[in-house]
Amino acid sequence: MNTMKSHRMKSSKIAYWLVVAVFGGGLLGLNWLPEGFSPESAGAAASEPLSTPASPQDDFPVPNGLKPLRVPSDNPMTTEKVELGKQLFFDPRLSRDDTVSCATCHSPEHGWSNGERFATGVRDQVGGRSSPTIINSGYQYFHFWDGRATGLEEQALGPITNPIEMDLTLEEAVEKINGIEGYRHRFNTIFGSDATAETIAKAIATFERTIVSGDAPFDRYVAGDEDALSDAAKRGHDIFFNRARCSACHVPPNFSDRGFHNIGIGIDADEPDIGRVAETNLLGDRGSFKTPTLREIQRTAPYMHDGSLATLSDVVEYYAKGGTPNPQLDEEIFPLKLTDEEKADLVTFLEEAFASPSYPNITAPELPDWPMDGGNN
Ligand code: HEC
Ligand code: HEC
Repeated sequence: MNTMKSHRMKSSKIAYWLVVAVFGGGLLGLNWLPEGFSPESAGAAASEPLSTPASPQDDFPVPNGLKPLRVPSDNPMTTEKVELGKQLFFDPRLSRDDTVSCATCHSPEHGWSNGERFATGVRDQVGGRSSPTIINSGYQYFHFWDGRATGLEEQALGPITNPIEMDLTLEEAVEKINGIEGYRHRFNTIFGSDATAETIAKAIATFERTIVSGDAPFDRYVAGDEDALSDAAKRGHDIFFNRARCSACHVPPNFSDRGFHNIGIGIDADEPDIGRVAETNLLGDRGSFKTPTLREIQRTAPYMHDGSLATLSDVVEYYAKGGTPNPQLDEEIFPLKLTDEEKADLVTFLEEAFASPSYPNITAPELPDWPMDGGNN
């Protein structure tokens, strides 16, 4: 019975990825997609080439346990570009009323998320989805909970122009940035011209690619350090990879399969967020959201696309009961029959395993001066 189930799941995934290959491949810049791409093969897929080969990133070492990051060949990483991107990321002047920066909703103090259920943009407007972490987002193919952006460069302009986030037109953003002499100078040095929407996006994306987390207790444990995890976390590790099959979707090393699944979160609401189907129009994607990374998960509460689960214990309880029944519920979500102690062990694993001692705890950089007043805070 189990074999049939997982076979059925596989063929639906193959069909899904064929559709992505045909319709999404061009957009994504991929000229190759794995046959029968499935959560289990996602790790292997990650080492295959993009159509634009990565350039060597010697200045940006890969943390233990992670794979080399692939970088678009037209946006190679340099230290200067990272620094510029960092300033832009932390600069509230990229918003209409100079109050909201990317870091408002993706703050290093909250695991590069915002510690709240929903995100609050300019004029205190609240959106309907939670801020995902941007940690290791360079390893994702699709961005946003529904995957509607296909690269960090493409993603970066979304929040700037979103009326409830930063609310500028691209023309206004470009004009504002070029009106700040310090930025204009840096853009000319790095890109050879004044800032454009494209180069603003390139700088921000380059900075985001440095927000990585690896070399965590999990990585040390799999590399042979038996003491890297406590006994409770080791029991949780076993449950995660075996009985609970969390790793069917949260695939190492980034603990995401880069895919979309319906685990039932919020699906019983009066007007549920339908997620991925809005992008693909495939009924099977109704209520599906992108599998998030679990790296630094202990820092990014509350959890899920609607921030509806406050703690990791709530998350484990949710999976243990088998999610929320609905026609598109993923077949890897089923009641887990865990004892209270086993649930606690799984929580301990989640808390311990992904907390890296080299967490990217970056402080806000100094920003170039505003020409007219000092409104750069
Ligand atoms: C008002 C809060 C807010 C601001 C400001 C904001 N974001 Fe976001 N960010 C979000 C939310 C909410 C999502 C998820 C939206 C969705 O899935 O529909 C998101 C998603 C993302 C993602 C996708 C992560 C992934 O892999 O799925 C990235 C990357 C990101 N934001 C970067 C940025 C950058 C860069 C900026 C500044 C230019 C920025 N954000 C500004 C709230 C914000
Ligand atoms: C069928 C694929 C699948 C399986 C199996 C699965 N997950 Fe998830 N997980 C997801 C998806 C998709 C989301 C995001 C769902 C949403 O927001 O609606 C998620 C979200 C999470 C989150 C919240 C992350 C965040 O940043 O908000 C945690 C924690 C988590 N899963 C842990 C687990 C654990 C522990 C298990 C095993 C008991 C597990 N997952 C099994 C697909 C899966």
